[in-house]
Amino acid sequence: MASVIIAGVGSYAPERILTNEELSKMVDTTDEWIRTRSGIGERHIAAGNEACSDMAVRAATAALADAKMNASDIDLLIIATCTPDMPLPSTACIVQHKLGIPAHATCFDISAACSGFLYALEIAYGQLLTNRYKRALIIGAEKLSSVVDWSDRATCVLFGDAAGAAVLIKVDQPGIGIIGSDLGADGEFADKLMIPAGGSSCPASAQTVEGRQHFIRMNGREVFKSAVRVMETVSREMMEQHQLTPDQISLVIPHQANIRIIEALSANLKMPMDKFYVNLDRYGNTSSATIPLALDEARRSGRIKPGDLTLLVAFGAGLTYGAALIRW
Ligand code: UT7
Repeated sequence: MASVIIAGVGSYAPERILTNEELSKMVDTTDEWIRTRSGIGERHIAAGNEACSDMAVRAATAALADAKMNASDIDLLIIATCTPDMPLPSTACIVQHKLGIPAHATCFDISAACSGFLYALEIAYGQLLTNRYKRALIIGAEKLSSVVDWSDRATCVLFGDAAGAAVLIKVDQPGIGIIGSDLGADGEFADKLMIPAGGSSCPASAQTVEGRQHFIRMNGREVFKSAVRVMETVSREMMEQHQLTPDQISLVIPHQANIRIIEALSANLKMPMDKFYVNLDRYGNTSSATIPLALDEARRSGRIKPGDLTLLVAFGAGLTYGAALIRW
């Protein structure tokens, strides 16, 4: 029996750090409000000339080095992003060119917001298992600072820029790597977190720009409630499917949107907070980059050891959600 394993992980966060203190000079907020309501202390912000693809390339280069592979080895590239370089072509094709991934490779973007990395993981997992491709590179990369309304205190304090990447391969060894993966979506909540203009339903115009409709709009309370519900449900289902109890999971890497969402998940699953990897104090919510960024940090800091079982769980605009179980 074959398995699909994560052969390498890498991440990148831009140099520039924006603190809560600085934000309090831009909008009517305080470090205290942001920390207590969200758990965020600071976030990284990309340079003006640094695109989503540039961050993706940095994370991918690190992941390839970790996997001891070259870009020429990759035949499947999937980029999860809601902040692509441009609507056309896909950011994956731009990254393919920048990295030097061969022309025969399949390269495409997926749109699943903050759950995007887990969506990419499941797609690559299935494709590798059925022998359609040999080596997959999956990336979550976001320049959310380009779609945040810097005059809206309810959203601008929450988001940051980053990228994370993983290389996946198939191995002839059972019971390791991706043990399970489960995804879901509930479009009923589509209007709770959106960028209203710039697509085909509301093309860009002088009016849409004037109305600030190209920025993120969010109903924070509704998203919060849904996030706690779906993350708990999908985590439970994943453990049940694999006859696992919470104590058998060494580390949970949850989407990092709000520390109170993670604390609610911890309480509802009856898993102590020290089993949850948290770095949102330093990065804020980096959407699809969050899970691979946290995974990379957790591995490098020794929080993941061979044999450990890790649960990845995310939710995002859509409303999308997903979970994956990884045996190292
Ligand atoms: O990847 C998915 C992305 N999104 C999320 O996961 C977001 C989920 N939601 C949340 O994280 C929380 O709902 C927020 C952090 C966005 C907001 O926290 P909250 O406890 O739900 O606050 P609220 O929206 O109910 O606002 C409470 C008060 C309001 O004032 P009034 O109406 O009570 O006078 C807001 O105007 O806090 C005010 N407020 C702020 N005050 C200072 C909202 N943003 C700020 C701010 N600084 N930055």
